[in-house]
Amino acid sequence: MFGRERIEYKSPEQVLLMRRAGLVVAEALRVVREAAVPGVTTAALDSMAATVIGDHGATASFLGYHGYPATLCISVNDEVVHGIPGSRVLTDGDLVSVDCGAIVDGWHGDSAITVVLEGGDELDTQLAATTERALWAGIAALASGDRLGVVGEAVEDLVDEAQSAGLNGGARYGIVQEYVGHGIGTAMHQPPDVLNYRTRDRGPKLRPGLCVAVEPMLVRGSRFTRELDDEWTVVTEDGSRAAHWEHSVAILADGIWVLTAVDGGAGRLSELGVTVAPLA
Ligand code: MF3
Ligand code: CO
Repeated sequence: MFGRERIEYKSPEQVLLMRRAGLVVAEALRVVREAAVPGVTTAALDSMAATVIGDHGATASFLGYHGYPATLCISVNDEVVHGIPGSRVLTDGDLVSVDCGAIVDGWHGDSAITVVLEGGDELDTQLAATTERALWAGIAALASGDRLGVVGEAVEDLVDEAQSAGLNGGARYGIVQEYVGHGIGTAMHQPPDVLNYRTRDRGPKLRPGLCVAVEPMLVRGSRFTRELDDEWTVVTEDGSRAAHWEHSVAILADGIWVLTAVDGGAGRLSELGVTVAPLA
C-alpha cells in the first residue's frame, strides 16, 4: 500500500498524546475480552466498546472509515480481519479476534486481541498464543533493529520455531500477506507498511519518532484469503481458522514503548530481554 512515502515522525510530547488514545483502546479491549462469552452477540460487544470510547471523550476510528459501519472489527473462526459486528451469537469454542481503534485529540491508537471461548480446540488456543508471541517478537525486534524489516523477520522466525516445536499438530501455519501493519499517528493508516514476512527490501531505517501498528495474522492452513460479499469480512480461502494480534508501538530515542499496552509492554518485553523506554 505505502511505498517510499513521507513518514510522520513524532516528538516525545506527541507520543504522549498517542498514549492517551492507546490506553482508551486497551480499556475497550479489556471490557470486550471479559464480555466475550458464549451467548453474547458481536453487536453487544461492539456497543460496549463504543461506550468505553465515548466515556473517555474519545472517538472510534473505524466507524465511518471508508464507510465501515461499526466501532470494532470482530472476526470469528475462519474470518481473519474486518468482520462486522451484528446479530451473530458467539458460541462455545469460537475463536474471536477483536480489533479496536480510537482517536484522542486527533491522535490514533489501534490494537487487536484474539480469544478462544470455553470449550475451544487446543490447536486454536495454540494458534492464538503463537500469533500473540509473533506480535511480541516483532515488537521486541524494533528495540534493537536497524530497519523496519526486522518485524517480518522476527515474525517468520517465531513461526518457524513454533513449527519446529511441532505446534499446529505438525501442519504449517500460514502468515497472511494481503494485510499488513502500518504507520500510525494523526491518521490510523500511514506509511510505512509493516510486513509480517521477510522481503529483500528491508524497509525504512528505524528512527526515534516512528510509530507503527504491528499486527501479525496467522492461520492454521494456507495463507490465502478472500473478501465476502459484504465487501469487508476477510476469510481464509481454505476455511482454516485465523488469529490476529496488534499493538501500536512508538520508537523513542531511549527505547520503545507499547502505546496500547497498559504497562507499556514492560511485562512481555522483559521476558524477551527488552526494557521499555522510561516514558510516563
Ligand atoms: N484495525 C484495522 C487495522 O488494524 C483497520 C480496520 S479499518 C475498518 O489496520 F474500517 F475495517 F474498521
Ligand atoms: Co492496524
